[in-house]
Amino acid sequence: MSIQTNTEGAPDQLALRQAFSLFPTGVVAVCSVVDEAPVGIAVNSFTSVSLDPPLVGICVAKSSATWPVLADSNRLGLSVLGSHQGQLCRSLASRNTDRFLDAPWRATDAGAVVMEGAALWLECEVRSTFDGGDHVVVLLEVVKSDLFPDVTPLVFHQSKFRELQIAE
Ligand SMILES: Cc1cc2nc3c(=O)[nH]c(=O)nc-3n(C[C@H](O)[C@H](O)[C@H](O)COP(=O)(O)O)c2cc1C
Repeated sequence: MSIQTNTEGAPDQLALRQAFSLFPTGVVAVCSVVDEAPVGIAVNSFTSVSLDPPLVGICVAKSSATWPVLADSNRLGLSVLGSHQGQLCRSLASRNTDRFLDAPWRATDAGAVVMEGAALWLECEVRSTFDGGDHVVVLLEVVKSDLFPDVTPLVFHQSKFRELQIAE
């Protein structure tokens, strides 16, 4: 399949979405406490960036209503979701719902929110943001990490949640 352009010469967004969906990713909850309540979104654009200093990156849509609120937070909690947390991911991506209903979470002293049952918790501070087309590229410094290596991570591929399998 090649990427078609529309009548204005812009790439067909549906075709691009489909192309990008062939790259499997994990899913990360990005959350903090705002006005004493948890606020968050799900992203699959997470990537590790640097060891020294410890940096990770995410890309957030400029249309996001939640990101400006999160960006103002002192600390953000990033939780790499486990394979049983597909429904939580959907909740964190939906509008007009309680995104944290039935999803146990905890707040750190600095106000980051991490999700119970995740494979990894990273407590981060925003270091820089860059223009990324219709997204903002955000670099975050990792201040603290908690690892749960026994938790199998959730995988997002071709718009479906999947589980990892040992390859031959
Ligand atoms: C699997 C999955 C991955 C997502 N990844 C991203 C992402 O990387 N960047 C992003 O801005 N939104 C991503 N979203 C969408 C957001 O989670 C969410 O829909 C949006 O931020 C909610 O709208 P609001 O920010 O306006 O409240 C993803 C949604 C899903 C279901």
